Amino acid sequence: MSVRNVLLDEARKAAGEYLESIAHRRVAAPAAADTLRAELSIPLSEAGEPPEGVLGVLAQAGRLGTTATQGPRYFGFVTGGSLPVATAADWLVSAWDQNGALHVMSPLSAVLEDVTAGWVRTLLGVGPKWSVGFVTGGHMANFTAMAAARRHVLLRHGWDVEKDGLAGAPEVTLLAGQEAHYTIATAARLLGFGSERIVRIPTDNQGRMDADALYQSLQTTNGPAIVCAQAGNVNSGAFDPIDQLAEICGERGAWLHVDGAFGLWAAASPALQHLATGIARADSLATDAHKWLNVPYDCGVVLCAHPEAHRSAMTMEASYIETTSFERDAHAYVPEESRRARAIPVYAVLRTLGKSGLAALLETCCRHARRFAEGLAEGGFEILNDVVLNQVLVSFGDDDTTRRVFRGVQEDGTCWCGGTTWKGRAAMRISVSSWATGDEDVELSLSAITTVARQVRGREPAPGA
Ligand SMILES: Cc1ncc(COP(=O)(O)O)c(C=O)c1O
Repeated sequence: MSVRNVLLDEARKAAGEYLESIAHRRVAAPAAADTLRAELSIPLSEAGEPPEGVLGVLAQAGRLGTTATQGPRYFGFVTGGSLPVATAADWLVSAWDQNGALHVMSPLSAVLEDVTAGWVRTLLGVGPKWSVGFVTGGHMANFTAMAAARRHVLLRHGWDVEKDGLAGAPEVTLLAGQEAHYTIATAARLLGFGSERIVRIPTDNQGRMDADALYQSLQTTNGPAIVCAQAGNVNSGAFDPIDQLAEICGERGAWLHVDGAFGLWAAASPALQHLATGIARADSLATDAHKWLNVPYDCGVVLCAHPEAHRSAMTMEASYIETTSFERDAHAYVPEESRRARAIPVYAVLRTLGKSGLAALLETCCRHARRFAEGLAEGGFEILNDVVLNQVLVSFGDDDTTRRVFRGVQEDGTCWCGGTTWKGRAAMRISVSSWATGDEDVELSLSAITTVARQVRGREPAPGA
């Protein structure tokens, strides 16, 4: 057997063992960074090492140093697992090693990306003219959409920002809810708007933007304006009133961008799509595939109702770059040039699940979230959000107690939930985003969380003691 096949077989064996045993292991990484560093941080050798040995070292490190995000009881951040077909397709992507930048570099990557873009448009209910780019994640999707917005709103005011930059340009007002994801501010920083110059619109107790407040704010805004709304608050899962915001933005000539890193997929479920009403009226959308679509890292998607602006903001030209006028070149819609053919696992997932399979994945996660909320409330703990999607926020008492509980849960290892601060209070955040989670995992996790919480609260000094 060739060395290549030996290595691929070894990788398959190690990956298979890893994934088959993941439901039964502690969810938090068994080894801490110090232990891993002691094993892995060696002086770079002069002569190198046999590849089989290096692969063996990595396989062992993977057993020790990874968090079981591919397992059924990881509820941290908003982390999708990877569906088996997505993982397998991603292996093919690595084996093919196609540069997905240009059609001439890989007809396969170009065609699959094109087809996948069409399916994503259909699922989200936007028109066939919308342009689509596959980027590394939600942050880059927001960045790309906001770059297209900057291009479009400034051109309408006679300014070519791609050529002339921002110095001397008409001032663009960027408006976002108080609860906008921090990547909106990061994108604002990268695009030269400045994160501190975002006009912050008040939000309600679920984190939804106040449409009246936006209306008032836009009344006093002259010149180009971009509004960043949200479909799925990273804590509560709540949606801004997108339809209303679209109406207001349309009236005031403001660009409406919707950041729906995970929540946007609600549009693909008959039971959830009411939450996303109005997204087709937006000017741009951002979402992730590596979250709720359950493809491996990394993959985000940006969609734009103004393909010309999208392309102009991203396209780069060079004399040696050969393009064809009739084929779509993927690099024209993303900030990168050379790039992974990252739409291929998305193609595999959507073709495997179909529309009803995707809806079932989304709705099952939401059902699990509701069960978490119900079980924890029955246990006497306080649910802090309306559980409209896959996110649950829970308090176990005062902030210190809540923090001790979620750290205890992480330490216990049955499941993994992260901490957050919601409306000034510490909370534990449960995000159900993986295809792998079943009813039994939710019950096992509920029981573990309840036990830890009772232990922590039992240790608390009695009032007045
Ligand atoms: C609403 C929202 N926007 C943007 C992001 C950033 O996405 P990514 O981490 O894929 O860049 C997230 C991540 O959780 C999110 O929830």
